[in-house]
Amino acid sequence: MIGRLNHVAIVVPDIAAAAANYRESLGAKVSEPIAIPHQGVTVVFIELPNTKIELLQPLGDNSPVAKFLENNPSGGIHHISLEVDEIFAARDKLKASGKRVLGDGDPKTGAHGTPVLFLHPKDFHGTLVEIEEVAKN
Ligand code: CO
Repeated sequence: MIGRLNHVAIVVPDIAAAAANYRESLGAKVSEPIAIPHQGVTVVFIELPNTKIELLQPLGDNSPVAKFLENNPSGGIHHISLEVDEIFAARDKLKASGKRVLGDGDPKTGAHGTPVLFLHPKDFHGTLVEIEEVAKN
């Protein structure tokens, strides 16, 4: 069921400084910051040869990552995203095995325009896991 690691998401207090750090210290290929107001985040995509890192900074009053930053003021790993072929089949299989899907259980459109769901960290060893359906090419 599980496919590639799509990305690791890191919440940061200052996305410009974090992007500069990845660019300058590590020589990473870093995008410009992209504001996604309806998701309550500003995102920087860092392209690695085998996966991506997404830097996230809270945007607006109801950001889903604001609380995380409050608890981790200098930032930290927020979630990992794993690719699946078919998100409804993956969701149903996970639920049948007793795993908790966050929210209303219906996939939402993620930062890449693909359907995503989040799984309860307590069911995955303290890590928030996103599953993401990525179109095959
Ligand atoms: Co993500």
